[in-house]
Amino acid sequence: MRHYLDHAATTPLRPGARDAWLAASEIVGNASSTHGAGQAARRLLEDSRERAAAVVGCDPIEVVFTSGGTESINTALRGLWGARTAEAAAIVLPDAEHHATTDTVAALAREGAVVRPVPVDALGRIDTAMFAAALDGAAVATALVANNEVGTVNDARALSLSAAAAGVPLHLDAVSACGHVPLVFRDLRGDASAGTGLVAMSIAGHKIGAPVGTGMLVVSRSARIAPLLHGGSQQRGLRAGTQDVPGAAALAVALEEAEAERERESTRLAALRDRLIAGVLAAVPSAALLGDPLDRLPGNAHLLFPGAVGESLLFLLDMAGISASTGSACQAGVAEPSHVVLAMGRSEQDARSVLRLTLGATSTEADVDAVLVAIPDAVSRASR
Ligand SMILES: Cc1ncc(COP(=O)(O)O)c(C=O)c1O
Repeated sequence: MRHYLDHAATTPLRPGARDAWLAASEIVGNASSTHGAGQAARRLLEDSRERAAAVVGCDPIEVVFTSGGTESINTALRGLWGARTAEAAAIVLPDAEHHATTDTVAALAREGAVVRPVPVDALGRIDTAMFAAALDGAAVATALVANNEVGTVNDARALSLSAAAAGVPLHLDAVSACGHVPLVFRDLRGDASAGTGLVAMSIAGHKIGAPVGTGMLVVSRSARIAPLLHGGSQQRGLRAGTQDVPGAAALAVALEEAEAERERESTRLAALRDRLIAGVLAAVPSAALLGDPLDRLPGNAHLLFPGAVGESLLFLLDMAGISASTGSACQAGVAEPSHVVLAMGRSEQDARSVLRLTLGATSTEADVDAVLVAIPDAVSRASR
């Protein structure tokens, strides 16, 4: 029996999302065509947009469907940068962001952007005072709602308010937070003036049980943003190209289901997670929990095993039927020390000795039991 403890990398497809995708795939029309078949596709697309908007607390017109987190983040950061005023040249970038963000900002830096880094603390939390201080005159700011590696949940509302006060457009990467923490775009944005404060928020479908290749970017009506893709005028001209109606339908269902069960699931997962963490710390006394012990994603257990090789741990657990990760799935297989753990002030050795176990909708007590049985031997062998 396999035990899947890598829900932060991707999640199993929800039956409801699969059904919605299959039903929508029967519709032949292009949602931009004016004939009846096209209009049927259009109706389902716009219905999905309305449902997605209702879940995340924005207007339907503010939903731009994309292919996932990476595209959403690129669209937001490149788009906001491209529409900046002439005198603004800085991008505010916290130290422990996902590579989809750091690599996009690095590309913009090669095109002239000045990067203003913001430290995270020892728990991986963005320093809100330093963030606010870095905003002055910046062109764009970005921040994770919750860290995808160590699970620490940031104070997104405080970050948003400081961006609004500074008059800087802010993008939030909500990919790892969606489905686990409350996300109401309108409330997070507050009464920021046009084009400033929280203006964009990224979500990826495959993290909440929708198909891989689905996602969305919430873009405030008032955002000043340039398109990444050029072509048709779909989605406010922000994301040209024939729209993926089945993907949108599946994403809307996954968002609704994830939100409907969020509180109940958070309680259930936090209890499983806490038993997992306590059990590992008891079985391996040298281990330590990284990230905020309290304010963390309900399904995230991020553990440091001093002296063990993270990659070996993954391999040994895999042999025991357990799928885990050392951090961001996008880095999996590349034996690099985690930049997140380094940013938290840990050594390079520590940044290579971590294991991320993430629980989700399909997780059970049996998954926790399997890890607790396998971990002592795996750690001792990975430490040789
Ligand atoms: C926080 C965060 N942002 C962005 C991404 C990239 O999303 P996608 O894989 O859908 O492109 C991920 C994926 O792991 C993530 O965890």
